[in-house]
Amino acid sequence: MINHVSIIMDGNGRWAKERGKPRVYGHMEGVASVRAVTEACVEWGIPWLSLFAFSEENWGRPQEEVSRLMELMAESMVKEKETLLGNGVRFRVLGNRARLSPALDAAITKLEEETAGGDKLTLIVFLSYSGRWDIQQAAERMAAEGGKDIADYLVTAGVPDPDLIIRTSGEKRISNYLLWQAAYSEFVFTDTLWPDFRKESFRAALDEFASRDRRYGKVK
Ligand code: IPE
Ligand code: IPE
Ligand code: MG
Repeated sequence: MINHVSIIMDGNGRWAKERGKPRVYGHMEGVASVRAVTEACVEWGIPWLSLFAFSEENWGRPQEEVSRLMELMAESMVKEKETLLGNGVRFRVLGNRARLSPALDAAITKLEEETAGGDKLTLIVFLSYSGRWDIQQAAERMAAEGGKDIADYLVTAGVPDPDLIIRTSGEKRISNYLLWQAAYSEFVFTDTLWPDFRKESFRAALDEFASRDRRYGKVK
C-alpha cells in the first residue's frame, strides 16, 4: 500500500505553447488534472497526496504569470470547496506563506479550517516552497528553541515522507522540492505534460512504483 504520493506538476507552459495559447491556458487546464488525481486518491484509498504548485524560484517569472497563478489558486479554492468537503479531503498549503498576499493567505487558512475534519485524504499544496528554504527555516527555529530533530521543524512536520515522487513533462530533476523528505522516495518521470496527466497516467505511475524494490540501504 502506498501512503504518500507527491507530484511535481510540470509542463503547463509547453502544453499551452503546443496549442498556440498563452501559458496561463496550460495552468488553467492543469487544474482539471489536480481534480482528477485528487479524486483518484480518494477512490483508490491513498491517504496523502501532495502537489508542487509554485516554487520560491517561480516568483521570478513575469509578474503577469505570477499573479494569474495566484488568482487561479484563489478561484480554485472557491470552486472546489464543496467537492473537497464532500469527499472527506483535508486541505493544507505548505511553503513560505509570508510571501503570499494577506488575502490569499487568509482564504487558505479559512479553507484549511473548514476542511480540517477530512479523514479520507490529506491534500497538500506546496506553494512558495523550496527545499533549501524549508531546511534553512527549520534550522533557524530549531537553534532558537534548542530542539534536536530537524524533521520536527520542517513545514512538513507530522507529514509522512513521500513514498513516490512523480514528475511530469520529461524533466528529470528535483528543482529544489522536498530535499530532506525525499531521502528514500521512489521517482517516476513521465513525458506526459501536466494538463494531460489524468487517471490513466496516474495509474501507470503507481504500477511502476509497485514494481520497485525498496531496500533503504539494507540487504533483502
Ligand atoms: C508547471 O508548469 C507549473 C509551475 C511551475 C507553476 P510550467 O509553467 O513550469 O510549464 P513549462 O515547464 O514551462 O512547460
Ligand atoms: C518546478 O517546475 C516547480 C513546480 C512544478 C511548481 P519548474 O518548471 O519551475 O522547474 P525548472 O525551472 O524546470 O527546474
Ligand atoms: Mg516547468
